Amino acid sequence: MQKIRWGVLGAAKIAREKVIPAMQGKKEYEVIGIASRSLEKAKAAADSLGIPKHYGSYEELINDPEIDAIYNPLPNDLHISYTLKCIEAGKHVLCEKPLALEAEDVQLLIRARDKAGVKVGEAFMVASNPQWKKAREIIASGELGTLRAVQGFFSYYNRQKDNIRNIPENGGGGVWDIGCYPVFTSRFALGEEPQRLAALLDFDPEFGTDRVGSVILQYPSVQMTFSISTQLVPYQRMMFYGEKKALEVRIPFNAPIDQPNELHIHHGDIVGHHVEVVKLPVSDQYTEQAEEFSRAILQDTEVPVSLESTYQNTRILEAIFQAAKEERWINLG
Ligand SMILES: NC(=O)c1ccc[n+]([C@@H]2O[C@H](COP(=O)([O-])OP(=O)(O)OC[C@H]3O[C@@H](n4cnc5c(N)ncnc54)[C@H](OP(=O)(O)O)[C@@H]3O)[C@@H](O)[C@H]2O)c1
Repeated sequence: MQKIRWGVLGAAKIAREKVIPAMQGKKEYEVIGIASRSLEKAKAAADSLGIPKHYGSYEELINDPEIDAIYNPLPNDLHISYTLKCIEAGKHVLCEKPLALEAEDVQLLIRARDKAGVKVGEAFMVASNPQWKKAREIIASGELGTLRAVQGFFSYYNRQKDNIRNIPENGGGGVWDIGCYPVFTSRFALGEEPQRLAALLDFDPEFGTDRVGSVILQYPSVQMTFSISTQLVPYQRMMFYGEKKALEVRIPFNAPIDQPNELHIHHGDIVGHHVEVVKLPVSDQYTEQAEEFSRAILQDTEVPVSLESTYQNTRILEAIFQAAKEERWINLG
């Protein structure tokens, strides 16, 4: 069987610490190259991760005929331009979230993808995580009773001046960095698209990036609220409330790779705390993502998160900024 040969654009923290290690020692795919703006940095990353090839520019990697697929973990503002360059060079691309900062840019990629006949997708690893597939299955089974409300929370504390999350020109701020997750996972788990939204955002006076945000989304079947922050105690949770039971995704986004993920089903006994625990086998969501994406290339099937889904997600994130600025509901229909 053909093995997919991956290249990585930039020695990004997420690539070095999570995604590349999760892709090593596999039968169907391997990471054979890493590029950096600095040749030294590329060599250091390649040496420490046991990657055979390194390049002192992104273009060299993009144009290397030995590379089949490219993982793009560049800062958010470079996702569209570099993904486009990769597609035009005939490469498949898995690009980090948020893939776009403007929904219309995704249409550009859709046209380029269709012309080049390659696979392109957004790296929402949660879509490949068995705990989210199980959550979606439980919701669809009707076990929770009629679902009427969803709540989400995602926060961390980061005030580093030079971090891309705190630089507006890099597409920084909480909505783009983490607001994308409650939006994506609710769409994924419900299998619906929201119809309208309202939002409040608080901006860091020094950085100019959004540091706290709260959003109300009206889905056809449920009301959803979620809050995010880049300057609060690290916390994350997603809750789906039905008439009979509630489903809790306990570590929805940074799921551990060395212990089983747990979904908790609450039976409504508040004092007795009757909770049913659904334990998922230990897995690494970044391995699952690479496996699903590589398989989509090898078998010519759908990628885990399509550009069509990215287009919807980006429209919603853009609407959050508009709703907060104009202090009104924004229709998404
Ligand atoms: N899916 C997930 O779980 C997850 C988790 C964390 C982050 N992410 C996403 O992954 C991407 C990277 O995040 P990160 O935290 O890994 O960032 P990071 O460590 O700052 O890495 C970004 C890389 O981009 C390259 N780069 C090119 N132009 C740059 C510029 N003007 N400023 C800074 N870096 C530049 C740099 O590589 P060279 O210097 O080597 O060229 C740098 O190492 C973001 O889109 C983020 O949203 C996803």
